[in-house]
Amino acid sequence: MGVGGAHPGGLNLTKEIFNGEKINSNSHILDVGCGTGQTAAYLAAHYGAKVTAMDINPIMIEKAKSRMKQYQLPVEVIQGSIEDFPLKDNTFDFILSESVLSFVNKPRALKEIFRLLKNGGRFIANELTINKPLNPSNEKEIKQFYGLDSLLGETDWVALFEQTGFKNIKVLMQKNSMFQNDSMPEFQYSKYIEPNLYTIMIQHLNILMKYQGILDNRIFLCTK
Ligand SMILES: C[S@@+](CC[C@H](N)C(=O)[O-])C[C@H]1O[C@@H](n2cnc3c(N)ncnc32)[C@H](O)[C@@H]1O
Repeated sequence: MGVGGAHPGGLNLTKEIFNGEKINSNSHILDVGCGTGQTAAYLAAHYGAKVTAMDINPIMIEKAKSRMKQYQLPVEVIQGSIEDFPLKDNTFDFILSESVLSFVNKPRALKEIFRLLKNGGRFIANELTINKPLNPSNEKEIKQFYGLDSLLGETDWVALFEQTGFKNIKVLMQKNSMFQNDSMPEFQYSKYIEPNLYTIMIQHLNILMKYQGILDNRIFLCTK
């Protein structure tokens, strides 16, 4: 369906987070799992930064490329997996993942992100958390629906970042719940949308309702 800003807080939260970072036109930023490229386009247009956007999904890549073409933004859009991404070590000043790491092999992806960051570079992640442990059947329901290998709480994420080698780990909580995105979601519909995707969208909203107060997100800010 081409949802832009498919992460809690949407583009407004992204803007708020980057406001606190020292970005300029010399900064090289990687947006991991960029989706339709809304954040990557914003960072390139607003800061004049050099932005690379990557995603595993060819439809997302196509939509991100068409966005950059439409707005004439020099954003490099590359298809690949963050678990094994063929770019050089120490390339980026900032790496961003907005609702991506939950869906991948986290230790492998974090190792790649660490490798790709320059020393002193910043890693910013807005990722799914659980506020308390779930009983096994509820945990299974969520993991199966979203295809997750694990459901992590805030401290589990921090432990993973520390194990990877990140320092100065700061955790922020979004002031609104996952239900209150300040920004209107954007849809870049494909010409053909498989009918079962509408059912999946409704199931997703039902899960968010059922686990309101338990499924949450945190913003993690770390330094290499
Ligand atoms: C919930 S969406 C978030 C998209 C975007 N960051 C945003 O906020 O709009 C998750 C994205 O992660 C991508 N993704 C999943 N596994 C990936 C992987 N191994 N490497 C790179 N991207 C991946 C998906 O294709 C999807 O576009």
